[in-house]
Amino acid sequence: MEIKAIRGFNDILPDEIGKWQFVEKTAREVFEGFGFSEIRIPIMERTELFSRGIGEATDIVEKEMYTFTDRSGNLLTLRPEATASMARAYLEHQIYTFDPVAKLYCIGPMFRYERPQKGRYRQFYQIDAEVFGVDNPMVDAEVILMLVHFLKRVGLEKLELQINTLGDRVCRPRYREELKKFLEKKSFQLCEDCQRRLQTNPLRIFDCKVETCQAAIANAPKVIDFICDECEKHFDKVKEYLKMAGLDYIVNPKMVRGLDYYTRTAFEVVSYQLGSQNAVTGGGRYDNLFKEIGGLDVPGIGFAIGMERLISLLPKEKEFIQYPHLFIAALGDETYKKAYQLINQLHLQGIRAELDYEGKSLKSQMRRADKLKSRYVLILGEEELKKGRAVLRNMETKSQEEIPMEDLVDILRLKFLPD
Ligand code: HAM
Repeated sequence: MEIKAIRGFNDILPDEIGKWQFVEKTAREVFEGFGFSEIRIPIMERTELFSRGIGEATDIVEKEMYTFTDRSGNLLTLRPEATASMARAYLEHQIYTFDPVAKLYCIGPMFRYERPQKGRYRQFYQIDAEVFGVDNPMVDAEVILMLVHFLKRVGLEKLELQINTLGDRVCRPRYREELKKFLEKKSFQLCEDCQRRLQTNPLRIFDCKVETCQAAIANAPKVIDFICDECEKHFDKVKEYLKMAGLDYIVNPKMVRGLDYYTRTAFEVVSYQLGSQNAVTGGGRYDNLFKEIGGLDVPGIGFAIGMERLISLLPKEKEFIQYPHLFIAALGDETYKKAYQLINQLHLQGIRAELDYEGKSLKSQMRRADKLKSRYVLILGEEELKKGRAVLRNMETKSQEEIPMEDLVDILRLKFLPD
């Protein structure tokens, strides 16, 4: 039987990879320009890191983690997100002793056992950025500015920035109780999952897609009406700094985010092109996460962008595939040897050159060059070689010129790699 990839785990094929590389390169440029450094964290952690960090009563921890025991009996989990691991690394390596403020980003695959559908996979990639060690609302706006700037740089349009505040350890428990009281009266309308959430984590009911649950929660009290003065001040400042940075936003009082670590600022960038999985990116402030996982009280804020969703929104007209600069069409045994030497020299210079390996006719070599969308073809014939020359054909304009063999590499380098 033919072996296929696991459901929800995708190959990214060579004709798509240009988009991925473009997005990653732009992220590195933008984030590093904002003072962020890359960190690489393991793909697997002790399960406890996520259950304590993300929260026991979240969908991720309750039913979406890839968890198993290794041969020594350790309970391990494939990372469902990067924030908790980055926080762990910051504590474990005492990055704070160099400077309490750390601006970090990471790019890589995450794993969640969700029901696969368009825009939702079991292995998916995130670009994640975090700032640790600052509770100033100015940083909330700075991080959001970086995110929006990045999304614009890759070519996204018609996006909406939604923000909300989720309160903190002082005011959120009060809100939670109010919400619970309100929903208890409507519990008959709630699905089985939400009946359970009502006891364990009533805020999660906002995220339920079941219509009757949505109806039950439609007029529920809003967290914004319960936040304490400190949280209100923080939120006002965030809004003020966003305006100063020239960013438009809407306040979405129902956005609660799916992970428990959030406090105060929460945000999402939503695209209306994506159907039901419309969140391209989400993030927020989490001033309790560090305490949950390690004891130190460090504030943090950050976001993660879903790369598959982002890539599905990239402008269609943009060209991402790197076609060959040059196809070498060689005719005859002697010219083949010359072509082999030449292609090696070109590759060492970084010129994308292709060669026919099967000794086919000129006509079929030209057809292949055309199929590969090579910009130029260099025709090496025995006659030309005797004269020490080769013919360079521009495949777009169809114009041809003869070039002396001894200057060939220099001429091609100037043509294809002018810098
Ligand atoms: P999240 O909202 O769970 O947040 O995920 C962030 C983004 O990852 C989503 O907006 C979506 O684009 C993408 N994503 C999530 N699950 C899937 C999936 N199954 N398939 C495809 N894409 C998916 C977090 O992960 C937080 N760690 C974000 C954060 C960082 N908050 C603070 N810092």
